[in-house]
Amino acid sequence: MATERARISVLFVCLGNICRSPTAHGVFRNLLDKEHLGDMIYVDSAGTGDWHVGKNPDSRSCQTALDHGIDISFLRARLFENRDFDRFDYILVMDKQNLNDISRIKPQNYPGYLGLFLSFGSNSSIEEVPDPYYSGSDGFELVIDLVIDASKGLLEHIQKHRL
Ligand code: 4NP
Repeated sequence: MATERARISVLFVCLGNICRSPTAHGVFRNLLDKEHLGDMIYVDSAGTGDWHVGKNPDSRSCQTALDHGIDISFLRARLFENRDFDRFDYILVMDKQNLNDISRIKPQNYPGYLGLFLSFGSNSSIEEVPDPYYSGSDGFELVIDLVIDASKGLLEHIQKHRL
């Protein structure tokens, strides 16, 4: 299912694809690069809503990522498409609304994993990455902290079960 070179493919999904999922995309990509696994795992992100298609991530997400040494400013928002079910082994969503939206269109025979990204996080009481769009900078800090933590858990899971 993954690309020719990569063995595993991961898609992060949120509503607008300008705050949470591009942050997850950049943070997980950065972690893979640090672990020299960049060629093994293909990463992308998408949104369930089309308002921001073609746009760069929100400037507050870009700044927060940059504060952690990660550049996400070059990413471009795109809409989730049905063919993503053919292309991605893991479809990881940020909240339960995203999960409902994607589950509704999921083919019955989708062989991959569709679930909440924070199911790979270390704090089982926080299930969703809160939408920071209407929040202050503390909302964006919370997003990246949750995403960094879940990214480590996701990589450990993939290394244990898939690579
Ligand atoms: P995201 O945040 O889903 O994390 O990208 C949002 C961005 C934009 C909107 C909502 C959430 N919006 O309503 O435009």
